[in-house]
Parts: sequence; C-alpha cells; structure tokens
Amino acid sequence: MDLSIKQGVKLLATGSAVPNLSISNDLISTFVDTSDAWIYSRTGIKERRVVSGSSSLIDIAALASDRAMHKIQMDPKDIDLIILATSTPNDLFGSASQLQAKISADNAVAFDITAACSGFIVAMVTASQFIQNGTFSNVLVVGADILSKWTDWSDRRTCVLFGDGAGAVILQSSSVINNSVLGFKLNTDGKKYDQLNIHYDMVDSWRNSIHNGLYGRFNTITMNGKEVYKFAVSRVPESIQFCLNSLNLSVAQVDWLLLHQANARILKAVASRLMIPLDKVISNLAKYGNTSAASIPLALDEAIEDSLISQGDLIVMSGFGAGLTWGTVVLKWQS
Ligand code: UT7
Repeated sequence: MDLSIKQGVKLLATGSAVPNLSISNDLISTFVDTSDAWIYSRTGIKERRVVSGSSSLIDIAALASDRAMHKIQMDPKDIDLIILATSTPNDLFGSASQLQAKISADNAVAFDITAACSGFIVAMVTASQFIQNGTFSNVLVVGADILSKWTDWSDRRTCVLFGDGAGAVILQSSSVINNSVLGFKLNTDGKKYDQLNIHYDMVDSWRNSIHNGLYGRFNTITMNGKEVYKFAVSRVPESIQFCLNSLNLSVAQVDWLLLHQANARILKAVASRLMIPLDKVISNLAKYGNTSAASIPLALDEAIEDSLISQGDLIVMSGFGAGLTWGTVVLKWQS
C-alpha cells in the first residue's frame, strides 16, 4: 500500500469501438506488392478496421466511452476529467473537447495527450495522478486513433500494419487500500524521434507563406521497422521488470501481459525474455492490426468481455512507439 497517496484508483468499466469496414491482407495484396502469407508470418495481422464515409475519430471514441459508461449506468455529467490519448486529432488544438461535447460530459475538464502508441499508458498514469492526489474522482481515459488517414497506402512497409479503433476506461477514486493502479514507469528517448514519425514540412519563411499561401504540411507515417522492433524487445522487458521489482512482485505473479499490439513477434519476444508463458499474453492483433493508442484498452475490453480476466488478477500493460516512448502500468483487476 502506498501511503503517500490520498485516494486509491479503481478501474470501474471498459468499452471499445472499431469501424465496420474490414480490410483483409488479401485486399491489400491487390494494390501493393505483398501477400497474406508475408503479413501474417511477419506481424500476426490478418485484417484491420478503417473508418469510412463521414465517420471520425470522435465517433469511435464516443462509442467506446458510451459503452463503458453504459456498463455501470454512469451519468456523463458525473465525469470530472476526460483524457483523450490520440496522435490523429480532428483538430490540432485538441479533440478531447469535441468528445466531451459528444458524450454530454458537461462538467468534465478535457484535454488530449499525444504519445503515439504509448499514449494510453501515459494517459492512465496522468489520470491516476489526478485521482491519487485527490483532485478528481471520476476520470474517463480514452485511447483512440485513426492512423488509416495518415498512412501511405502505396507503402507496403507501413500500410499493412495499422488499423483504426478506440478503447475507453473509467477510473474512480477508492479507498487507498483498494488502489488498483499499483505502479508505473514511463520513458522517452527523443534522440530517436525520427525512427517513427509523421513529419511536418515547414515552409522556409513566413513571407513565403503569405505570398504563396504555403503553410507546410504533414507527411504520412515513416518507420524504421527493424530499429523500432529492436527497441521494443529490449526496452519493454526492462520497463516491466523495473515495475515488478519496485513493487516486490515476481514475474510468476503476473496473470496477464497486455502489450501494445504492434507485432505478434514482439509480444512473443517480450514474453520470452521475461519468461512469461504465452497463454498469459493477451492478443487481438490478428483482427485489428496496430491501432496505436487504442490497442491496449481495446484488447483489455475484449479480454474482460470474454471473461479471461478474473477478480484479483495482476495485469501488466506496456505501450511503446513513436517518440520514442515506452511505459508500463501494473494494474490489479478488481471490479
Ligand atoms: O506501433 C509502434 C511500434 N511499432 C512497432 O513496434 C513495429 C516494429 N517493427 C516491426 O514490427 C517489423 O520490423 C515490421 C513488421 C515492420 C517489418 O518486419 P521485418 O521482419 O523487420 O521486415 P523488414 O523491414 O526487415 O523487411 C524484410 C523484407 C524486405 O525485403 P528485402 O530488403 O529483404 O528484399 C522488405 O522490403 O520484407 C520486405 N517487406 C515486405 N514484403 C512483403 C517489407 N514489407 C513487406 C510487405 N510485404 N508488406
């Protein structure tokens, strides 16, 4: 028990949403030089969902949030804080306020967090701090991304990987003894920012933008896959081991390993380094691909819906990705 905290954090409910449109590996193979065999053997992905028509980030984020609130009959007016982890906002000034309006959470403060595929972990930690120090009682944390809008669909190195989705969790203050967010570790290595990014090309001068109407533009996703892979399989186990050590927990006490769903080979390699058996590794990668900030809460919601996770289970969640950023949260499941 951490005596420095004023309140504990309890995870009350989860929800998730994905767009209806499914893009299979076979379909991608019709427009880039790839195959179902290559994609599945190298990544574990079979299909991914992408938004279509007028459907937006806010639509899937709101649906995931509504589903979480519905499970516990929560009135949105009782939410104090909304944190939206996303790298694909509707508005560069932030999209959380649109989510607040859409779900009628009129009393909530709302802001975005941008930390790519680690975004949900960073948002969970941020939310927990606000609860544990006594500032807020009811917090909605949403991880949502629509990377399909930022993908170069002619680049086979990246377009096979990503999908769209949203996942939400509702955190509430509890007694200190019932605290569920046991510990965390966050890291950043900004020197490697260019290994995975969506770069913004600026115009060379202010005058140029006035005369030519050029204001610069964002590129599509670029990634040095091999380097990011190596980074993930080395840094993530370290982060998890650090958290477990600081909580005096052993690897054997971990019931579920829930990693950012980037690549099945990464999930296996991290589990193997920690000597965690594969039947404790949660994965829905085959159905959705890499949904960035949504991947952990989406997989968590499905695991809870499928009754995989039981009362008192210890869940280790780790995110990793652009920044480069990585982080772990150790959670005790008590509904
Ligand atoms: O969410 C943020 C975190 N992201 C990650 O963690 C991603 C980490 N990286 C990875 O998951 C893997 O590096 C990838 C799945 C992206 C790539 O797998 P890889 O085994 O590292 O492949 P590679 O980049 O080394 O490419 C091997 C070969 C290359 O051909 P050559 O040069 O050996 O002739 C690529 O051109 O595979 C080729 N290739 C493809 N072939 C068919 C790359 N993409 C494809 C493709 N289909 N889609």
